[in-house]
Amino acid sequence: MQRHLISAADLTRDDAVLILDTAEEMSRVADRPIKKLPTLRGRTVVNLFFEDSTRTRISFEAAEKRLSADVINFSAKGSSVSKGESLKDTAQTLEAMGVDAVVIRHGASGAPYRLANSGWIDAAVINAGDGTHQHPTQALLDAFTMRRRLVGRDAGLGHDLAGKRVTIVGDVLHSRVARSNVDLLHTLGAEVTLVAPPTLLPVGIGTWPCEVSYDLDSTLPKSDAVMMLRVQRERMNAAFFPTEREYSRRYGLDGDRMAKMPEHAIVMHPGPMVRGMEITAQVADSERCTAIEQVANGVSIRMAVLYLLLGGNEPALTNTRTEEK
Ligand code: CP
Repeated sequence: MQRHLISAADLTRDDAVLILDTAEEMSRVADRPIKKLPTLRGRTVVNLFFEDSTRTRISFEAAEKRLSADVINFSAKGSSVSKGESLKDTAQTLEAMGVDAVVIRHGASGAPYRLANSGWIDAAVINAGDGTHQHPTQALLDAFTMRRRLVGRDAGLGHDLAGKRVTIVGDVLHSRVARSNVDLLHTLGAEVTLVAPPTLLPVGIGTWPCEVSYDLDSTLPKSDAVMMLRVQRERMNAAFFPTEREYSRRYGLDGDRMAKMPEHAIVMHPGPMVRGMEITAQVADSERCTAIEQVANGVSIRMAVLYLLLGGNEPALTNTRTEEK
């Protein structure tokens, strides 16, 4: 493992499988009456959020607390960032307080890379989503969810997603989730197809390690997992499709479309969902939709990443005395 986690593309197959297997171990902590390990006692982790978040921010905090780390939460809103303070000065202020890891979400693509490689701080840097670039822990929790559902919980240990067919649908252009998933799923041996209107695909898509289609209906019967993406209006400065109704008609997932998927296939969504736009309430609330499971799995994945980056050399649970003893 590298010292930082900036991009899913930086992970080898062995790195990724180690994180997935460690997350399986970590998930057992959630089944205990006291959901805590002493692993990161005495270590300090700061959650540095310059962009809004519900799932990622809360699940990193839950993961850090389950590992007994000291947690500092920083939100740009209400901080001296609003007075013009730079990323460098903010980071060095935190460094002066002695942090061991920085979890950063930023609207600018490349901000976590800059933080990790600038020499401003010594702490490990974990990218919690940067602009339209990367969201590596999201891709890891998605892979974890697919492995559990499509390979099997215990049978999955040590395994990747070789041959699994994953369809990612919607606003690929603005999606760090799509980029991270294509990188990681390719590393894990899955076959990815992106489905989107031509206006919501990035320039250079032909170089990505995946297929591209404009026809959702013909792709669904060949999918083991279908991942729906939110249309990111907050990142749009132009009209990318005629109307929301037209978009939903061609690229939304409703009950009739879901019926075209193989029986074993799952529906995924990284959240937040816009019900009625990319996914109907019927699909979002169906047993085939893993959106809530993905959130729960996110805590295990983030525990595994923190444990491995902050020096976990021993098996995560077997050699670790638990708090409940
Ligand atoms: N999936 C995800 O990143 O959600 P949040 O923006 O709520 O963190």
